[in-house]
Amino acid sequence: MKIYTATDFKDMSRKAANIISAQIILNEKSVLGLATGSSPIGVYQQLIEWYKKGDVDFSSVTTINLDEYVGLAPDDPHSYRYFMKKYFFSHINIHESNTYLPNGLQKSQEFECMRYECIIRNNGGIDMQLLGLGHNGHIGFNEPNAAFEADTHCVTLSQDTREANKRFFDTIDDVPRQAYTMGIKTIMQARRIVVIVSGESKAEIVKRSFFGSITPDVPASVLQLHNNVTLVGDKAALSLI
Ligand code: F6R
Repeated sequence: MKIYTATDFKDMSRKAANIISAQIILNEKSVLGLATGSSPIGVYQQLIEWYKKGDVDFSSVTTINLDEYVGLAPDDPHSYRYFMKKYFFSHINIHESNTYLPNGLQKSQEFECMRYECIIRNNGGIDMQLLGLGHNGHIGFNEPNAAFEADTHCVTLSQDTREANKRFFDTIDDVPRQAYTMGIKTIMQARRIVVIVSGESKAEIVKRSFFGSITPDVPASVLQLHNNVTLVGDKAALSLI
């Protein structure tokens, strides 16, 4: 595993954006696995800035997001599709038809999970997966004790995760109870994984994930078994390793 230490959130975002733009420059048809949440917002801002300067071109890039809430329409301001549009897609020259997220409105879970796995496969797999890290070690919506062998599936969100995500909603009752997520197996099949972490509150889980035992109790610990993981964190998040 490679570890890059950044001074702060901005520097972490810049370093991770550098890795992603290098990936796109080396392969203009890159398939990027993307995340939502607070951690990647600075990365997207940096990539937008470089796109506007003409330094990076997304016209042949494909993106496949980790997850989406069940029950939310793509134009719902709380959906991850909306988030991606707002913070990234609408500012760059990516073709909307090359951007994939699970369809939160699909009632047949079995159909949606199979469709999503097919999208990943038909695009040749994910070249680089960007991941944030939950305080309990979750990646995507794979909560503690999620099966390592799971591919895309529908999960019932834990109370902790709903609490953590309520900052994006008016009340806890508005936070959806289920989500579609790539499984741990899907994530592990990405050819390269870039994990971004910022802030002191992530320090303990960074230590447990990357230097503790490999256990479903800490889903991110499985990343120790992947042969191409890059951890980009600010000093605060890396302070215990
Ligand atoms: C987002 C996702 C989540 C977040 C994680 C960290 O698509 O799948 O696993 O990456 O909850 O969230 P932040 O970055 O808000 O700390």
